[in-house]
Formats: sequence, C-alpha cells, structure tokens
Amino acid sequence: MFAPTVASLLLLSASAAVKASPCVAFDINWNLLAFGLDGKDWFTGTQDTWSGSGQATDITTTSRPTFDGTNTTCYLSQFTNAIYVLNGDSKNPSSIYIYDATAKSWSTQAVTLGSFDTTSFDAILDHDTNVFYALSHGNLFSLDMGSLKAANSTPVVWTDVEQAPYPSNYQPVMALAQNHVHFLDVPGVPAGSADIFVIHYSYFQPQSQAYPLPDGSTFPATYGRATSFFQDSGVQQEFAFIPQDSSAVYVINVETNTTQKLAGPTIKDPKTTYFASTNSLVQLSSNGTVSFLSYQEGNTSANAAASWSIVKPLLTSAPPSTSSASASGTKTASGISSSGTSSGSTSGALTASPIYAGLVLTALLGAMVYVL
Ligand SMILES: *[C@@H]1O[C@H](CO)[C@@H](O)[C@H](O)[C@H]1NC(C)=O
Ligand SMILES: *[C@@H]1O[C@H](CO)[C@@H](O)[C@H](O)[C@H]1NC(C)=O
Ligand SMILES: *[C@@H]1O[C@H](CO)[C@@H](O)[C@H](O)[C@H]1NC(C)=O
Ligand SMILES: *[C@@H]1O[C@H](CO)[C@@H](O)[C@H](O)[C@H]1NC(C)=O
Repeated sequence: MFAPTVASLLLLSASAAVKASPCVAFDINWNLLAFGLDGKDWFTGTQDTWSGSGQATDITTTSRPTFDGTNTTCYLSQFTNAIYVLNGDSKNPSSIYIYDATAKSWSTQAVTLGSFDTTSFDAILDHDTNVFYALSHGNLFSLDMGSLKAANSTPVVWTDVEQAPYPSNYQPVMALAQNHVHFLDVPGVPAGSADIFVIHYSYFQPQSQAYPLPDGSTFPATYGRATSFFQDSGVQQEFAFIPQDSSAVYVINVETNTTQKLAGPTIKDPKTTYFASTNSLVQLSSNGTVSFLSYQEGNTSANAAASWSIVKPLLTSAPPSTSSASASGTKTASGISSSGTSSGSTSGALTASPIYAGLVLTALLGAMVYVL
C-alpha cells in the first residue's frame, strides 16, 4: 500500500528540488480540490467546512502530473465532472492531464500542438461545448475536449481559428459568461468595458460592451485575473475580475451588464490564481495560502459585506511555506514540507512564485516510514 507512494516520492527526489506549481479547482458538487499543494493533492469539501478544525483529505494518487510546470492552470468540465490541467508537468508541457473527480483517477491526454505556444496564452473552457478557447500571440486557438473524463488514445488538437482583432502586444485576460468569451484590458478599450468573442458564431463582436457599477464608476483597464462563477447547471453568467494590485474584486454580470465591487483579497500578491464555484471565490497565493470570499449570486448586500478568510483545513494539512530565507537559485532542496511529522520547520526560496516544495525531504521521510 505504501509502495507506490514511496516509489513516486523517490522518483521525485531524483530530480532534486522540484518547482511546485499548484492549482485549485472545484468538482461539480463544489468540493474544493487543491492540486500539487505541499507536493500533494487535497480534497477540501464544501465551503461550510472551510472555517472548521477539520483536515483536508489527501487524494494524491498515481498517474498525476508532477505540478512543476510553469503557470499551471486547471479547468472544471461541468458535464463530465473532470478537471483539466494545462502545463501540469514541465516534462510534458503539451499534455493535458485529466482528473476524473468521480473516479478520483488521473490520465494523460496526448495533444497535437500545431503552432500553439504552451508558454504564452490565456484560456477558458467553454461550458456548453467543452471546447478550450485560448489567445496566444494574437491568435485565437480552440481545442475540443469532447466528453473526455479520461484520456483517449486519439490526440486532441489545438486549432488556430483566426487572428484576433487585438494589438499584438495584448496580454490576454479572459473570462467566460453566457457562451461569450470576454477579453479584459484590451488596449484602447475603455475602463469598465470588455471585448467579446461569441462562441456559437465564432464571431469577434466589433463593439465593446460596458459593465458599469451602480454608481457609474468602472472597473480599471488593467492587467489582472478573471474566473467565472459557476451555476449549479447551465452556463456561467458572472465572472470575477481581480486587478493585479488586488485592490478589489469586480463581479461582472453579463445578464444585467452591471458590475459589483467586492472586498479585495487580504493577501495582495500579483502571482495569485483564482477559481470560483457557485458560492465561493478562492485565491491561491504564491506561497500556497488558500483563501476564499463567500459569494451569493444576486445578494448584493451580503456580497458587499463579505470578507476574505483562510481555508483552514488546507492551512492545517498543507501549511503554506514561510518566506523567511531567500532563494539562492541553486538546485538544492530549498523548501521543507511541514506536513507530516516535522513541526516548526522553516523553508526558504518562497519569496516568490513558483513555490519550491520540500519533496526531497518528504521522499526521505516517506522512505524511512516505509523501511520502518
Ligand atoms: C507566466 O505568467 C506570467 C503572468 O502571470 C507571465 O508574466 C509569464 O511570462 C508566464 N510565464 C510563462 C513561461 O508563460
Ligand atoms: C447586455 O449586453 C449584451 C452583449 O452586448 C447584450 O446582448 C444584451 O442585450 C445586454 N443586456 C442588457 C440587459 O442590457
Ligand atoms: C442575503 O444575505 C443575507 C446574509 O447572509 C441573508 O440574511 C438574506 O436572507 C439574503 N437575501 C436573499 C434575498 O437571499
Ligand atoms: C504567505 O504570503 C502572504 C502574503 O505575502 C503572507 O501574508 C503570509 O504570511 C505568507 N505565509 C507564510 C506562511 O509565510
């Protein structure tokens, strides 16, 4: 029973310090999943359990990606209850890793890249068609995941759809709502507006769409992160935009064409990533701290009053690395996992993303446990 775990940890130890690039996502029952956090994958339950004293459940298993890629991103396929991981493994940057959240198993989908550059893109997964749309080097690409919840032997293909009508220096910020891909921070588009690609007609809408706040103010025209709030069923209708300075969270509703301004995250870290469910916006910061903002669709007073909290079970089970020492950029193991038996351990190299996880030490501990 221990053998595969020990074997995989020892394998990891062979590559010395491994750059960790975790991501968070939800399954279709809105259980929070954290992948590659402190070197492991975690099931964290629904929002009502995140403030309690419980632990996250270790769901690390075979065939998972190493979560050492650059800018790893995760997407929920709601029809299949699968999580798709892009850039999950630095050795296989083209592969898409699929986590079947029902079977709790991993598989690796082969991908035909064509001219798609896995090191420079932003992407959304369309809810209704299960097709990825990505903007990379000024071109729109698509990749059809069909109804995959486990890898198929036929490679899936990144197709170059067309050149986007945006300046070539545009660093994409993309979100999905109502089968429309929203592009934020497009050069020349005023604050408070987004440009739109209509998926069903494969059509770049020539005019921008304004999403004003009730007081007439606007979300800023700036780089940031965006992620869609899911519905229990059906297509997303709202997405969160978090400017890189973390000053606020803007929730854009594409039904009413309005924006609500909510509390900015407590941890102001430009390298954080976000993922939303129906009732939570979750932040993964670059040292592995996972926080959330409670959200109620349509309840503006509750949302305006909401504040950020730590997801406590993850804090307990996969504590964030402290950032006391600084990275020296060597190949030595620079982080020490403080899960398991060691307590009060410190680790360096965590002043900035990507995280260096203490997989070597973990491997040694694992091996010792196995031997004992
Ligand atoms: C990773 O994403 C950041 C923006 O968040 C970007 O500046 C950087 O170039 C990306 N790195 C790669 C290798 O794509
Ligand atoms: C919101 O904007 C969309 C896209 O431009 C438009 O089709 C729709 O009619 C607008 N809805 C309202 C309520 O203004
Ligand atoms: C809005 O949220 C508040 C606080 O959680 C709650 O008391 C109220 O019933 C909610 N209103 C609606 C319409 O759901
Ligand atoms: C993680 O980073 C945040 C933001 O910089 C900081 O507030 C927090 O203390 C850090 N956690 C640890 C354990 O260093």
